[in-house]
Amino acid sequence: MSDQKQTNPLIFPRWLDKMLPVAGIVLAGGPLFVFGLLFYGGSPTNTDVGYQPEQPVPYSHKLHAGDLGIDCRYCHSLVDKSAHASIPATETCMNCHAAIYTESPNLVPVRESYATGLPVRWVRVHDLPDYTYFNHSAHVNRGVGCVECHGRIDKMEVVYQAEPLNMGWCLDCHRNPGPRLRPVEELTNMAWQPGPGEQAELAERLIREYEIAPSEDCSTCHR
Ligand code: HEC
Ligand code: HEC
Ligand code: HEC
Ligand code: HEC
Ligand code: HEC
Repeated sequence: MSDQKQTNPLIFPRWLDKMLPVAGIVLAGGPLFVFGLLFYGGSPTNTDVGYQPEQPVPYSHKLHAGDLGIDCRYCHSLVDKSAHASIPATETCMNCHAAIYTESPNLVPVRESYATGLPVRWVRVHDLPDYTYFNHSAHVNRGVGCVECHGRIDKMEVVYQAEPLNMGWCLDCHRNPGPRLRPVEELTNMAWQPGPGEQAELAERLIREYEIAPSEDCSTCHR
């Protein structure tokens, strides 16, 4: 199979390279592939809902984003500009913690990072397989709020994965995004809800205004 792949680069799309562990399913043919997706893609062991690694600093989203009301974009400043949301640099924490809680033992790794210039070693929570492509700005600038994919982060002491992030879950929304859209002004407002009876009309308006037509082509997410 790998020989063929090298001699026939036009027959096999590039993303298959990154997908070798699963490419066999595709190459084995349509029906088997569909069966594989239903069986494998739908099984609960394929999702990481609830994954909640321990972090090097007991940083609380509930305190900072919830109680103090700091906007998500103060720290995740690239989320509406690029594919990746970005984790804040230590300097962002020190904007406040150079002046408050300067002796807190909980902030020792932050102060060390500031002194040495080495980043705090945050543990990644959400992580799609390498063979998938995701883009934050494409979603958040089209009225898909953070809460749709990350849950109530503003209530989490420690971040956990709230949604399955598997292919079926992505496609569910790509097929029918209307009910999960909001005005972009409410992007980071975790508690926002449409007014009673407003959802259908709002969805129709936003789909028109933002020109929304999410793709279901394989190459959208596997490239
Ligand atoms: C004061 C800075 C700050 C603010 C404000 C903030 N975050 Fe974070 N966020 C962090 C830091 C630091 C991490 C990495 C540590 C962790 O996972 O808790 C993080 C991690 C995350 C993660 C997990 C990233 C991963 O590893 O997969 C998500 C999702 C997230 N934030 C979403 C949000 C949302 C949504 C908001 C607004 C409601 C928000 N954040 C507000 C600093 C912030
Ligand atoms: C806009 C200001 C601000 C920023 C930015 C900020 N914090 Fe805080 N942080 C606070 C305040 C205020 C408190 C104390 C709240 C309270 O106790 O009522 C606090 C408390 C904490 C505590 C608890 C300290 C203790 O001993 O109880 C930790 C840990 C912490 N912050 C980590 C961080 C990290 C890590 C970052 C950067 C990702 C960060 N903070 C960014 C304002 C900020
Ligand atoms: C349509 C779903 C979706 C929306 C909306 C969304 N995210 Fe994410 N987020 C994801 C996925 C999927 C990942 C994992 C990406 C990966 O592994 O490449 C992720 C990862 C992250 C990370 C880790 C760093 C990174 O980019 O991989 C942070 C931080 C984050 N999101 C914050 C936010 C914030 C803040 C918002 C709202 C302004 C938001 N996200 C909106 C799906 C979403
Ligand atoms: C809650 C709804 C929702 C979810 C969940 C969702 N998407 Fe999307 N996606 C959208 C919308 C809306 C667009 C914008 C469509 C447009 O611009 O016409 C989009 C666009 C995209 C694009 C096109 C980006 C570009 O460069 O134009 C990619 C890639 C994508 N989504 C991947 C994913 C992946 C991968 C997942 C699952 C991890 C996912 N999406 C989950 C609603 C969603
Ligand atoms: C909207 C985004 C999106 C589209 C469109 C999409 N995929 Fe996926 N696909 C994903 C994501 C995300 C995963 C990773 C699932 C996981 O981590 O469990 C995935 C995983 C897979 C897998 C691995 C098995 C599995 O289910 O986990 C195969 C095979 C696959 N995709 C093939 C395809 C084919 C063929 C198409 C076109 C018919 C396609 N995908 C269209 C997002 C997408």
